[in-house]
Amino acid sequence: MPGRYPEAWIEELRERADLVQIISSYVPLKKKGKNYWGLCPFHGEKTASFSVNPEGRFYYCFGCKAGGSVINFIMEMEHMSYGEALKYLADMVHMPVPQLEEDPDYQQKQSQNERLLNANREAARFFHQTLFTEAGRQSLEYLKGRGLNDHIIRRFGLGAAPDSWDSLLKHLLSLGYTAKELELAGLTVVKEAENATETSPARPRRQYDMFRNRAMFPIIDAHGYVRGFGGRILGKGEPKYLNTSDTPVYNKRLGVYAANLLHKERHLDHVVLVEGYMDVIALSQYGVKGVVATLGTSLTDEQARLIKRYVPKVYLAYDGDSAGQHAILRGLDIFRNAGVDVHVLDFPDGLDPDEFIRKEGLEGFESLPVLSPETYRLRRLKESYDLSTKEGRTEYAKAAGSILKNLQPVELENHIQDLMLQTGFSRDVLLAQIGYSKSEAVPVQTGTRTVSPVSRRVPSSQPSNEHVRGEELLISLFATGKLPPDELMDEEDFTDPFLKNVFHALKSGRSPAAIIEMQKTPEDIDRASRLMTPPPAEDTNELLQLARQGIHTMRAARLEEEIAQITKSMSALPPAEQLQAMTRLMELQKMRNQI
Ligand code: GTP
Ligand code: MN
Repeated sequence: MPGRYPEAWIEELRERADLVQIISSYVPLKKKGKNYWGLCPFHGEKTASFSVNPEGRFYYCFGCKAGGSVINFIMEMEHMSYGEALKYLADMVHMPVPQLEEDPDYQQKQSQNERLLNANREAARFFHQTLFTEAGRQSLEYLKGRGLNDHIIRRFGLGAAPDSWDSLLKHLLSLGYTAKELELAGLTVVKEAENATETSPARPRRQYDMFRNRAMFPIIDAHGYVRGFGGRILGKGEPKYLNTSDTPVYNKRLGVYAANLLHKERHLDHVVLVEGYMDVIALSQYGVKGVVATLGTSLTDEQARLIKRYVPKVYLAYDGDSAGQHAILRGLDIFRNAGVDVHVLDFPDGLDPDEFIRKEGLEGFESLPVLSPETYRLRRLKESYDLSTKEGRTEYAKAAGSILKNLQPVELENHIQDLMLQTGFSRDVLLAQIGYSKSEAVPVQTGTRTVSPVSRRVPSSQPSNEHVRGEELLISLFATGKLPPDELMDEEDFTDPFLKNVFHALKSGRSPAAIIEMQKTPEDIDRASRLMTPPPAEDTNELLQLARQGIHTMRAARLEEEIAQITKSMSALPPAEQLQAMTRLMELQKMRNQI
């Protein structure tokens, strides 16, 4: 983020961009008490659990726990970055957008992460430029040899890491990045030399480029930041792909490859999810839209949720080999839990999407069989039974029954017919095995818009600690102006760093919406929104009691912790200190009893 908009301007924007009115244009809202309520746009639901708080200027869904300010709302609904959403809203309410704040010390004040992201961007530029020089000739030949044209190479910003130990290192040092920063960004690696001697105990460190003599794939997030790289070996060898490991600005579990292109794509109704960099690029080159890949890990819940922000439907296009097939089962589970409509593309002959589309073209790709999750699961299941024996058929029919449990009658019908042929059981027996009775309304997900009742976001894990819950309650009361002033507490009272921060921000007068926006991850944005939502009690006395209880739980928990610690370490102490510890212990116990 080069520079920032003045905070006062953003605050005015939040005030003028009427939250209720803006959200109403997406979701009908009804006033009930101080808040407005509607059906949550982020997860499928039939009763309104989505609340809009006009006073605090934020929304929060009690169903899927999604929350945020008007700016977060626009970011989610319109797939915009923070800066884009600001401009979009400013335009809507006719507020001129100010100059980014000039800041002479900008370079110094930039946070470390911004510097790492900038270093990554420079590295991507360096690799890309190298591709078209002598030092990148081999990589360019490799990429061309795999059928890529110049246009697609530029679109994905592909590059070449030279066959050298330190060309990137030297280049980035010359641009003012420090050796430490390059190490942190995963662009270089450091080896402690082994020949340290008694006379020079400080082991010499050798720092060199992480990626050497490889074709480079920058990993760019939805907002255009280069977060990491994949580097492919030019030919045979191990490892085939070298990927940036986790850094302060990169977590492979959270992102997908080609998120930047997904973000730019308009009117997508589905995503094609593949396993490899080359699969994404090849399919894109042939004209398939909305292709992304997981980044050398199996699919995570976070990736499923990221995809769900863009589209309601996913086609899994995993390799035809056994690893790919195994990953499909996992993918089906994860997308189902995220409430995404998911299907499987059936590649023949163990081909991966890249190999397939080069052979069969876009037309071949578009006529690939699309399997429903049940069809795919049944097919896999069948492989593990011997249907030539009675036992095999029986066990298969039982296992199939549990796969088919939640299907609608018409979908069920096709499977039943297959099963009758495969197992020899009658329709009635199979239906009974599935547990299907005509009178039951079968709850199902159909079409693309209805989603399973599972939340959009897996609710951020509720803190299990008693005292963290106490701390949360206090923040809620404080944020909603319900904490009596004499109960005011110290930052020190908070053990949870997240809550400590929120408390600090509240105390220094920041608005709830501003605090919500400050958060860095979707989970934290949701958590902050929940905290700013008043606890479910209107009676002041009741709240007071809740607040005291909160403080007490917190303090008691801290005392308990210290008591436990002292008790544990007591026997290891020298006698003189034991006495001291004992005195402290008694003091603590007394304090605890008073609470
Ligand atoms: P090509 O052989 O270039 O076509 O590779 P691919 O795109 O078919 O990839 P493959 O199916 O072999 O692997 C899928 C993904 O797993 C790659 O895009 C990488 O992200 C990751 N991957 C593959 N090989 C390695 C490896 O050796 N090490 C690591 N860390 N990741 C790998
Ligand atoms: Mn491949």
